[in-house]
Amino acid sequence: MAIERLVEPTLAEDNSEEEKIEISLRPVSFEEYIGQEHLKNNIKLAIEAVKKRSDGSTLDHVLLYGPPGLGKTTMAGVIAHELGASLRVTSGPAIERAGDLASILTNLKDGDVLFIDEIHRLRRAVEEVLYSAMEDYKLDIVIGKGPAARSVRLDLPKFTVIGATTRTGSLAGPLRDRFGIIHRLEYYKESEIEQIINRTAGILNTKIMPEATGLLAARSRLTPRIANRIFKRVRDYADVNGDGIIDVAVAKSALDLMEIDYLGLDPADRNMLELMYENYGDRPVGLTTIAALTGDEAATIEDYYEPYLLQLGLLARTPRGRVVTDKGRRHLQGRKSKA
Ligand SMILES: Nc1ncnc2c1ncn2[C@@H]1O[C@H](COP(=O)(O)OP(=O)(O)O)[C@@H](O)[C@H]1O
Ligand SMILES: [Mg+2]
Repeated sequence: MAIERLVEPTLAEDNSEEEKIEISLRPVSFEEYIGQEHLKNNIKLAIEAVKKRSDGSTLDHVLLYGPPGLGKTTMAGVIAHELGASLRVTSGPAIERAGDLASILTNLKDGDVLFIDEIHRLRRAVEEVLYSAMEDYKLDIVIGKGPAARSVRLDLPKFTVIGATTRTGSLAGPLRDRFGIIHRLEYYKESEIEQIINRTAGILNTKIMPEATGLLAARSRLTPRIANRIFKRVRDYADVNGDGIIDVAVAKSALDLMEIDYLGLDPADRNMLELMYENYGDRPVGLTTIAALTGDEAATIEDYYEPYLLQLGLLARTPRGRVVTDKGRRHLQGRKSKA
């Protein structure tokens, strides 16, 4: 299903305008990074400790995990900024061969931060090179082929890896063990999403009324990226249909137009719940069956649809599959009787 979802928490590709705005909205310091207090406090402490030691030691490797759009990439930038370090960005699927990783690593300098997004998608051969690099800053490479092949160890600079993943489950144990700091990003509180919306409004020079902020926050799936995306659409709507000021009436009509309901669900979410309920009632359904019903990939359902529906309690996970809960059923029926 190739429809573009407004609530899709990933960044749309080929959309340079959106990318530009997204960069301008990205917090660079702890001060600007709203929420995730537990994570911030722990990292702040670790950074202070590193700075105090001044013996050339570096920050432990950091693993950030959690659903898309909650601020993992942003946090990697903030950490580098607070360390005064330079940041090198790559991703699991982008590193094709062990040699690619070797060249990234040998180009780092002491204290640099290497951000590896989607680290669960690293290839096995690449992952193995990363082990010794993370563990003792050594690079094992094999020179030559066949019986003449020999292995050499190179010294690497003392760097910090920040890994991000939507699933720790699919991260190999030995890789996971090499991270000293492991943190799960949580869904934001609605009040924090309101702060993020107000911050965005300020940066984009748009006036939004407090009640409208509340309304948008309630429908943003407790996710900053979605809050910002909805904000931009509502701002467009306000520009076209009014004087550019976002008040409750404007916000409400814009959200209705986008078919985002009061829980933040969009047509694709409701469609999935409906298909599950119509075909299976309150019996568990396997992930691949759900994927076949909606025409999505199983991974898409697992990463994008499911986490928020589970968080809301509309969907539950059982050993035999996913079920639509009573609350989920009531949500679907409530919408039908209102329509
Ligand atoms: N704590 C935060 N405070 C303010 N804005 C945030 C915060 N976390 C994320 N954002 C906004 O949401 C967008 C998406 O965050 P990002 O770090 O790319 O998420 P992830 O890497 O987890 O998918 C960022 O560009 C930023 O504008
Ligand atoms: Mg990211």
